[in-house]
Amino acid sequence: MPTLLHAPVAGPASAAGPLMQLIYASRPFGFSGDMLDDILLAARRNNRRDGLTGALICRADLFLQLLEGPREKVTATFGRILRDDRHMEVSLIWSGEAPARLFPDWDMMDDPARSWMWNRDAVRAGAILQATSGEARAVFRRVAGEVASGIA
Ligand SMILES: Cc1cc2nc3c(=O)[nH]c(=O)nc-3n(C[C@H](O)[C@H](O)[C@H](O)COP(=O)(O)O)c2cc1C
Repeated sequence: MPTLLHAPVAGPASAAGPLMQLIYASRPFGFSGDMLDDILLAARRNNRRDGLTGALICRADLFLQLLEGPREKVTATFGRILRDDRHMEVSLIWSGEAPARLFPDWDMMDDPARSWMWNRDAVRAGAILQATSGEARAVFRRVAGEVASGIA
C-alpha cells in the first residue's frame, strides 16, 4: 500500500494536461481580517473543486499569490481574481509550466508577509513590480520549504 500521507489534495496534473503556475502581486483595497477570511473561504472552496493549490502571502499593503493546477482552471480563476474589487493594481509576475506543485497539500495556504521579503517602504517604492519572476518564484519556494520542514 503506498503511503497517502503526502497525497496531493488535487489529482495529478497529468490527468488534466500540464501543470501551470501563475504568480501575481496586487494591492489590497480596504484590507481587514474579515475580508481576508472571506477571500480564503471562497478560494479554498473553489480551488478544491477546480484542482488548484497555492499560497497567498498577505499584508495590509500587499497580496502576492501563487496559483497552480490545470491551465484552463488557473486562467479562469485568475480572470475572476482580476475583476475582484477587493484589491487593485493586479500585476502578473510569472506564468508558465512547472514540473511539480509547490503546495500540493494546500487549497490555498495563507501566510503573512515576512521580514525577509520586501518591507513596507520597498513595497511603496514599487519593489514587487520590479521583482523578477525568478525572485518571486524563489519567495514561494522558500515558503514551501519552510512549511515542509515545519518552520512556518
Ligand atoms: C487576493 C485574492 C485572492 C483570491 N484567490 C482566489 C483563489 O485562489 N481562488 C478563487 O476561486 N478565488 C479567489 N479569489 C476570489 C475571486 O476573486 C472571486 O471572488 C471568487 O473566485 C468568486 O467565487 P464564487 O463565484 O464562487 O463566489 C481571490 C480574491 C482575491 C482578492
